[in-house]
Amino acid sequence: ADTTPRPPRPTLSDFHGVSMVHYFTDNWEKVQNFKARPDDILVATYPKAGTTWASYILDLLYFSLRQPDRMTSAPIYERVPFLEMQIPNFMTGTDFADNLDTTPRLIKTHLPVQLVPKSFWEQKCRVPGHVNLLYCRLLTVVYVARNAKDNAVSYFHFDRMNFAHPEPGDWNSYLQRFMDGKMVFGSWYDHVTGWWERKQSCPEIHYMFFEDMVEDTGREIEKLCSFLGLGSTAEEKQQIRDLVQFDTMKKDDMANYSTVPVMDFKVSPFMRKGKVGDWKNHFTTTQNEQFDEDYKKKMKNTTLQFRTEV
Ligand code: A3P
Repeated sequence: ADTTPRPPRPTLSDFHGVSMVHYFTDNWEKVQNFKARPDDILVATYPKAGTTWASYILDLLYFSLRQPDRMTSAPIYERVPFLEMQIPNFMTGTDFADNLDTTPRLIKTHLPVQLVPKSFWEQKCRVPGHVNLLYCRLLTVVYVARNAKDNAVSYFHFDRMNFAHPEPGDWNSYLQRFMDGKMVFGSWYDHVTGWWERKQSCPEIHYMFFEDMVEDTGREIEKLCSFLGLGSTAEEKQQIRDLVQFDTMKKDDMANYSTVPVMDFKVSPFMRKGKVGDWKNHFTTTQNEQFDEDYKKKMKNTTLQFRTEV
């Protein structure tokens, strides 16, 4: 039997209009006052959109490819700390971020755009990719979005195994709550569109799609490098592409979250399938029709488009 001591499941409550659990709001004072630095890079996502994958690529690009020891020295969630997380005896994201001694610092958040600490927006910094110093009001953000159906499925399995989130219940009721935005970090619809709208006026936000990464990881690494102004060689980019294959990351204990005490891998692994279209194995025909109809209404005012298959 599994005897790992785990915290009790938290309940969902409203936090500034967004559904949250206390693990991500207990440290709010410090999160809100967090001092971002001009060269910080924020990896922002709705949960289960490919955060770890993007974090891993960024860590390799900036550090680990040239210092392979780093890859085995600490799990990815310590190399790229989760800003708003505070789990007793495990992690306080702001402390981990404050203690990072790298430049840039890579920092992860699942916050919807309106809750991101002020210091991230009030930076004077160089626009990535420009030789001349152009000052702007925002530091670099890499946002990753994933289509709603696969995102919901991935989140369902994650909530089953992650004791820092509420019990997911059965799939049908979970999908309804997903549509209602009653998830940890709130509505998927608001999250992806909120960041998308912000991107339209902020060239410092690189908006990526999980589906594109699955379709052609190399191409997405290429685009990321050119956004960040990195002069990585073709060989380095190829090496990174190989290192971030799903099967490779799944086997790597520094990438697969197997060292996180609040997760039960016997229920479901963190690196579960890594596919586009797994929703077809979960949605019934009726659920799919209802979802599509509701989706059209919720997404009617945005230009943001997703692919549910590649
Ligand atoms: P699935 O549950 O569909 O397998 P996050 O890091 O934001 O929590 O996202 C986790 C999801 O990204 C999981 O999706 C996981 O398997 C997938 N993932 C992580 N690394 C991946 C990789 N290298 N290639 C493809 N998918 C990956």
